[in-house]
Amino acid sequence: MQTRLTEAFGIRHPIVCAPMALITGGRLAAAVSSAGGLGILGGGYAGTLAGEPDLTQELAHIRGQKFGIGFTTWALARVPHVLDEVLHHFPCCVFLSFGDPRPFSERILRSGAKLICQVQSLRHVDQAIEAGASAIVAQGAEAGGHGALRSTLPFVPEVADYLAMKSPATLLLAAGGIANGRGLAAALMLGADGVVVGTRFLTSEEALTPAAASDRVARATGDDTVRTKAIDALRGVSWPEEFSFRVLKNKLTEQWSHREADATAAFGSLVAAYAEARSRQDFDMVVVGAGECVGLIHDRPSAVSILEAMVTEARSLLGRRATLNFVDGTANPGVQRTPASERR
Ligand SMILES: Cc1cc2nc3c(=O)[nH]c(=O)nc-3n(C[C@H](O)[C@H](O)[C@H](O)COP(=O)(O)O)c2cc1C
Repeated sequence: MQTRLTEAFGIRHPIVCAPMALITGGRLAAAVSSAGGLGILGGGYAGTLAGEPDLTQELAHIRGQKFGIGFTTWALARVPHVLDEVLHHFPCCVFLSFGDPRPFSERILRSGAKLICQVQSLRHVDQAIEAGASAIVAQGAEAGGHGALRSTLPFVPEVADYLAMKSPATLLLAAGGIANGRGLAAALMLGADGVVVGTRFLTSEEALTPAAASDRVARATGDDTVRTKAIDALRGVSWPEEFSFRVLKNKLTEQWSHREADATAAFGSLVAAYAEARSRQDFDMVVVGAGECVGLIHDRPSAVSILEAMVTEARSLLGRRATLNFVDGTANPGVQRTPASERR
């Protein structure tokens, strides 16, 4: 299944493993890349959050594979030297989410890496284009982990149309709720060149996910997640106002998710208790970031079998279309990728 993404990044499948903080370590990123997708190591909060894995150790697991690395942009802005350190490991791309990518783009592009920007609104798309992103990830609110308000189904085609007008060479990836071949096929039909998958890889054999968290994901339905700002406030992590956190419901969210103002007033009050609960792997207290597609996940396969199952199912669903290719967008009725020079 060729798309503009597979061509531009030299990969076999249009599937990117999301840089999930504390979850996408070197083994998972390497497994996805060696299976023909693109693994993006979770650089998370660039080492500023308690419990993050050592980046140098994780990078060692990927040696010899094509890989990217992702950061939470507002956190990277506090420790910008971390970017220079990872660029010495020659990632093929840097994936930035949640904040303005423009201050980092020159360094990234100068190193020869591509820039991928995950966005949650059209304002973010403009920033990403200005930053020189090769690919923009339109993230819907269904996604696990942090995100914002737009939904994948209308947001992805709206960004596809916007890019067709403003920056036709920029690739588009869809994120949020994509866990199987049905999701992959749907995303391509919406005008995406590929997908970013997070929650489905949470329970992969190679993820850093603790077994007790993985069990919860495999048992949950899509009704069992909630998007809230309360937990970040309580655990003392200063997320910008526009973002919230989609997690599996647990005792802590039952108590606090609907009381965001109270949680903001109690900012940081659970820092110590939360860290202690994390060390005990107490997932009644510590939240598990996960998206609505948990309801489609019931097993713990290897990353390669996740990838292969997605591609096989999407190919069969797309039928004849899968034998066409999506490289120039002509196989997709919804997206007119007219070269900028031919536009009025
Ligand atoms: C546990 C978890 C942690 C995440 N951490 C990050 C992160 O550190 N940086 C980031 O850009 N995105 C992060 N994401 C969001 C993903 O990049 C992606 O948008 C999302 O997983 C896609 O939706 P899905 O979970 O439905 O597949 C995280 C997602 C999950 C589930």
